[in-house]
Amino acid sequence: MNPIFIQPPQVAWASGALSEGPLLRKSTRIQDLAGIFVDEQARQKMPDDLIVYDVEMLATSPAEGELYTGVTHLYPGKIGHEYFMTRGHFHNRREQGEVYFGLRGSGLLLLQNEQGEARLERVFAGSVHIIPGFTAHRLINTGDDVLSALAVWPAVAGHDYAALANGFSLRVIEENQSVQVKEAKNG
Ligand SMILES: [Fe+2]
Repeated sequence: MNPIFIQPPQVAWASGALSEGPLLRKSTRIQDLAGIFVDEQARQKMPDDLIVYDVEMLATSPAEGELYTGVTHLYPGKIGHEYFMTRGHFHNRREQGEVYFGLRGSGLLLLQNEQGEARLERVFAGSVHIIPGFTAHRLINTGDDVLSALAVWPAVAGHDYAALANGFSLRVIEENQSVQVKEAKNG
């Protein structure tokens, strides 16, 4: 027998770079994040086309039961005093969970249930995050370097951004050169 060894896709753990597979890429810029940060005026003063985060994912089957794999690269920065963060979402299919693996940088994963109760997990190279169903999730970069995290989630999960129209109940800001967590005033 002459076996054929298939070359699988690869992730470079130190950088989060994916290779060897057809990739889908999406960049999210300052102009895409209206109303997400508490200081909207500060956001408007920043360059529209500045990238806040990039997502790369393997172009794999969307069928029921399949899994998607992707990496988020969240750049360091702040809008006003608030650290750069992803938009955050519930899954359309609320019961579907997800796993994040921290690859590089340092930050926080903000988790919030449908009752609005929030908690924060530290993200760092090697951290593993079990995101249960019915839980919205957002990455926040509190460090000086790129925060990269690998994610695996059910292909049928989908994204529901509208359900978070009032935002998360916690905000993470820099105050006196340290990371501070505040209750959000506007929900
Ligand atoms: Fe998700």
